[in-house]
Amino acid sequence: MGRIIVEGKTKIIEEDVGGKVRVVSKPVLSKGDGKVRLTLEGKDRWANRTTCNVFKLLAKQNIPSAFWEQIDEVSFSAYEADMVPIEVVVRFIAFGSRLKRHPEEKEGTFYEWPVVEFFYKDDEEGDPFLIFDLISRKWLMLDAKKPPKEGFIREMPQIKTKKGRIIDHETIIEMVDIAEKVSFILRDEWEKLKVLLVDLKMEFGFIFKHGKIILVLADVLDNDSWRIWLMGDKIQMKDKEVFRLLKEVTPEDRNKLKENYQWVAEATEKFLA
Ligand SMILES: Nc1ncnc2c1ncn2[C@@H]1O[C@H](COP(=O)(O)OP(=O)(O)OP(=O)(O)O)[C@@H](O)[C@H]1O
Ligand SMILES: [Mg+2]
Repeated sequence: MGRIIVEGKTKIIEEDVGGKVRVVSKPVLSKGDGKVRLTLEGKDRWANRTTCNVFKLLAKQNIPSAFWEQIDEVSFSAYEADMVPIEVVVRFIAFGSRLKRHPEEKEGTFYEWPVVEFFYKDDEEGDPFLIFDLISRKWLMLDAKKPPKEGFIREMPQIKTKKGRIIDHETIIEMVDIAEKVSFILRDEWEKLKVLLVDLKMEFGFIFKHGKIILVLADVLDNDSWRIWLMGDKIQMKDKEVFRLLKEVTPEDRNKLKENYQWVAEATEKFLA
């Protein structure tokens, strides 16, 4: 095992050889910006399987990503990425926190074109909502739970990666472009399995490949990254939302969660058929 580079809530990133890292899943579910955590036996294996299936599918469709190859049941190797501290969210349907910012939207409404939103990765600040002002070229940070007019927190002159790379408007456009492509690919795959992709969250990073620094999809895309509803029916949700809605976790709830994560891992295997 290599040196630990970072340990997060649900993954450990270890040093590997050749500019790569080993991304190891933990059997943990987390919510409320990490304030609530649940250990669920098997979740690491199902999350890793799901992510590997998704990244393999995306590679076939020429989506640039940090993913390299699956290592074992709970880990995969990836290019070490200089991560962009932004969560990019794509929504096909009005749901979740979006409704707090846009109370005028009716829950469950399909958008004519998917909505793309940015959130600053900062648990302390509760992952605030971001708007990039193209005229001033500044970022506006807003409360994710209030309409934009009421939620202004502060201006940010710049957003940078850990290594100091500035997120400029070209990077923003590139992220939106990749995020939309990924979303359409996954929506279509889920549709074949009679599953509705409601929304999904992605992260990006810069990697060094073939002598160049390029922006790629990074982190993971697993059952904690999206909302999916079997038969388009909210009652039949299969993703982490089930856990978000639980106040306490009974043994029956644990079984239901396990069943769901396993179901999703197995379903995503069909993406590669
Ligand atoms: N290929 C990669 N190279 C380097 N770092 C990565 C890579 N993929 C993911 N990471 C980073 O690994 C860290 C650990 O992941 P994890 O998701 O467990 O963190 P977290 O506790 O959720 O924190 P965060 O809110 O930053 O995601 C994250 O900061 C993530 O951005
Ligand atoms: Mg994370």
